[in-house]
Amino acid sequence: MSYCRLLTKKHIKTSLITFAVISAINGCYVKTVQSHYQENYRPQLQFSPAKYWMNDPNGLVFYNGEYHMFYQYNPNGNSWGDMSWGHAVSHDKIHWETLPIALTVKKDEEDEATEMFFSGSAVVDARNTSGFGTKDNPPMVAMYTSNYPQAITLYNGKKILAGMQAQSIAYSLDKGRTWIQYANNPVIEKPPAFPINYESEYKNFRDPKMFWSGKYNKWIMVAVLAKQHKALFYESHDLVNWHFMSEFGPMNAANGLWECPDLFELPIDGHLAHKKWVLIININPGGPAGGSGSQYFIGDFDGTRFVADKESQYDNTPPFGNLIENFEGSYDSIAWTATGDFPGQYLAYGNQTGQQGVKNYQGNKILNTYTAVPGSDSANGSDTPTGTITSPSFTIQKKYIDFMIGGGNHAHNPAQSVSTETSINLLIHNKVVRSSTGTNTETMSWRSWNVAAFLGKRAQIQVIDQNTGSWGHILLDHIIQSDAPKITANWSDFGSDFYAASSWNNVPNDKRLWVGWMSNWSYAGNIPTSPWRGTQTFIRELELQKINGRIRLTQVPVHAFNQLRRQMLFHHQRAIMINSDDTLLSNHQIKAKVFEIQATLNPAGADNIGFKIRTNGQGQITRVGYDALAGTVYIDRTHSGDSSFSTTFATRHNAPVTLEKDGKLNLRIIVDTSSVSVFADKGEVVLTDQIFPDPSSTGMDMFSEGGSASIEGLTIWKLNSIWTKKSNP
Ligand code: FRU
Repeated sequence: MSYCRLLTKKHIKTSLITFAVISAINGCYVKTVQSHYQENYRPQLQFSPAKYWMNDPNGLVFYNGEYHMFYQYNPNGNSWGDMSWGHAVSHDKIHWETLPIALTVKKDEEDEATEMFFSGSAVVDARNTSGFGTKDNPPMVAMYTSNYPQAITLYNGKKILAGMQAQSIAYSLDKGRTWIQYANNPVIEKPPAFPINYESEYKNFRDPKMFWSGKYNKWIMVAVLAKQHKALFYESHDLVNWHFMSEFGPMNAANGLWECPDLFELPIDGHLAHKKWVLIININPGGPAGGSGSQYFIGDFDGTRFVADKESQYDNTPPFGNLIENFEGSYDSIAWTATGDFPGQYLAYGNQTGQQGVKNYQGNKILNTYTAVPGSDSANGSDTPTGTITSPSFTIQKKYIDFMIGGGNHAHNPAQSVSTETSINLLIHNKVVRSSTGTNTETMSWRSWNVAAFLGKRAQIQVIDQNTGSWGHILLDHIIQSDAPKITANWSDFGSDFYAASSWNNVPNDKRLWVGWMSNWSYAGNIPTSPWRGTQTFIRELELQKINGRIRLTQVPVHAFNQLRRQMLFHHQRAIMINSDDTLLSNHQIKAKVFEIQATLNPAGADNIGFKIRTNGQGQITRVGYDALAGTVYIDRTHSGDSSFSTTFATRHNAPVTLEKDGKLNLRIIVDTSSVSVFADKGEVVLTDQIFPDPSSTGMDMFSEGGSASIEGLTIWKLNSIWTKKSNP
């Protein structure tokens, strides 16, 4: 094993000469450590740096047989900071080789950063429009956000304000190995002044994604004004001079920040004559599982402006329909029955006393179980009160019940002996037939239940709060019977750990491949991995497909991923009947840490059906399944392993899904040492979650609740590690 020197902060200097040396040392160091890649929680199917912090994927571009992936990297520590562009390449879309750092943070004599390299993109300038290379050796050009923490005057005389985020470029003439920063950076100093003056937003202007448009014969770039929830579109003919064209947003999910946009065109159902544009906007917080998330818009782009299709635009106003309750009245007029700590305690003008941040509700009042502790004279509210709040009975007249929900993420779980739920349930004959929980956020959002199966039946809504711990409360508003589900955004992924997703430029055969950072800003800095923090998902292939009348963005693991299948652990073509807890797999000694499950679930009469994975027989368990009550596919990581680093981690994440006409659901579940990715049906519903189980938790089984169900065509493969190939010794 070769000896490589560890870099300390002191070694990092700003000059370009030391930059190259540092890169070389780093490259050597990284390769040496890579031979291990065996630490606890070390992903075996997905890229992570040998050492230190990583966030967003950047500069994704294919060139000369190599898929380049740059990434937000801290060369000096295992927390966010000193942002630089790390670099890895793959030839086969599954194995990665780490290369020297491409763009290294610049620092002053006091070791304070003067320029950080934030997220951006890269292209191959095949016609040498920039003049940085030659036609025979075209340059690779990257555009990134220069984040300047301090006010400085650059060598080129440009004056930079403290906290400024501006767009800069760099180019490489050696396949991305070394980079030369353009002398007259930044190329876009400030957000546009005209037609609307956005210049004062110079601290929140970032994440340029550029690409070549053959159709419009120019370079196009989209960046964000993060706090304004705006995507800004630019054009250029030489990658140096950029002109602002148009803006988009806010629309759909527009809480938190808008970050890392992307824009590309795809055929619908493979028909080249029917193409649509897809605008990706990552958002943090405000994602579907709380914290960071990724949403998309389907629409048209005419070379200047992106316009979202009507069907891809959602608003937050109550849907048309029959109102069950909006909580605007008094306790008497509302006439719901409260038990436990809640009689006379559950109505609030948004926040209860001592609470902060409840927002996005309609009208003035909501149901809110964060409430004053009865009998105490404390002015503060609390999560400790428990009890139920139940509506009068009503007849189900329409196919959907839509409502706004917020608060704690603690799902209804009849199997639990002592309930700790914060849930909103639909009762028929006192039995829970639909159930939803919050996502640990006070920002309320719409949820819908498909209740077509109960048309004409009498029902009640029941709010249950049995949770006294963190996020031990639930919020509810505007319950409406309607003809359609209320949608507020198209989510690319419903799990907690898929963010800053971005696609490759220049991929052969017009394929659209992308990758996301597998973490969430709510806890990314605290996940229990060392000496690295941060993983990129395996590459996924994107398509547009018309499903149930709606154009959906679908994702599947890139085809090459199948090569990792090492050994078929289990295969059963015919239906396996499941009643309650099934032990078929454990009876067959099926155990694995890194594996794939393909199966068709037939929920039949069960309330809940799925797989228990990464179990240890002592309570450690991750569940992946279909909740027939909620009509959702989910990953339940409440007992998945270490969650001590975050109060919001141990939760269940749900994605609404429509069963096939035959009442079945196809699932592909990919399990890594510290993550689970679930692809449902054609890939229109995806969930990605990190988990931190013990390495010895390798058990798995199937289960059903509330009735019998079956699992068909079950295949389980053990998967090879991507770190065993020769190129990654
Ligand atoms: C998204 C993000 C980007 C920014 C980068 C900084 O995760 O906040 O907006 O460019 O990370 O590391």
